[in-house]
Amino acid sequence: MKKILIAGNWKLYVTEVEDAKNLASQLKRKISKITNIDTVLMPTAPLISTVSAAVKKSSIAVGAQTVSPFLDGAHTGYESAAALKSAGVKWALVGHSERRAQESEDVIQAQVQAAVKAGLSVMLCVGEAERDPQGAHFSLIERQLSSALAHFPAKGTKLVIAYEPVWAIGKSAAEACKPADLEEMSIFIRRALTELFDRTAATKIPILYGGSVDGSNVHELLTQGGVSGFLVGRASANAKSLFEIIDACKA
Ligand code: 13P
Repeated sequence: MKKILIAGNWKLYVTEVEDAKNLASQLKRKISKITNIDTVLMPTAPLISTVSAAVKKSSIAVGAQTVSPFLDGAHTGYESAAALKSAGVKWALVGHSERRAQESEDVIQAQVQAAVKAGLSVMLCVGEAERDPQGAHFSLIERQLSSALAHFPAKGTKLVIAYEPVWAIGKSAAEACKPADLEEMSIFIRRALTELFDRTAATKIPILYGGSVDGSNVHELLTQGGVSGFLVGRASANAKSLFEIIDACKA
């Protein structure tokens, strides 16, 4: 059975230790009976240890919302990929649009490499700020992929691409990407990955969608959008809305 991946990017929606503990524990109970969905929780860094402890002995993985391009050394205030790995983190989210404003393509490439070096799996976000009738957004996505993945190893590191059009993030379900547009973009991303890796490797890379996903639109995006899961923001920070998404995806 092909597994669906649901990653919850909590952003700064969850900021209290107790809330993080409760949400992670509730998810642990919920997911224990579901076999076709893998889940990742991405809390803000100070809550990583709380969430890691709460999901112990479950299939839930923990991810970091960002990672430093530096593994070690004199870099005050950064989150080292090596330190995250040693704290039990499995996934590094890289290239989220809410960070791209301050992180150049070169920095994103270095973050990917730092994550790879530290042994973290990489969830790379790509997405255009606006759609162009002439299709310029496709070349932008291709550039974001080829730049970030320029030195990505052919083997040994798990990679997931999250397509997150900036215009669809933080809106209502009705403003999310339409399934047909998503399917077209998934095919395009898959083709771009085939240029970067060999075909067999490229077909194995899961493509997720993120941007105003909730229980009301997730099923049609999953069945018609050509994606194998979701990177969920706001709706992942609350048990009710997260479970609505899970229920709509479960076998
Ligand atoms: P929303 O689900 O809140 O639109 O956020 C999407 C996102 O940015 C996930 O990384």
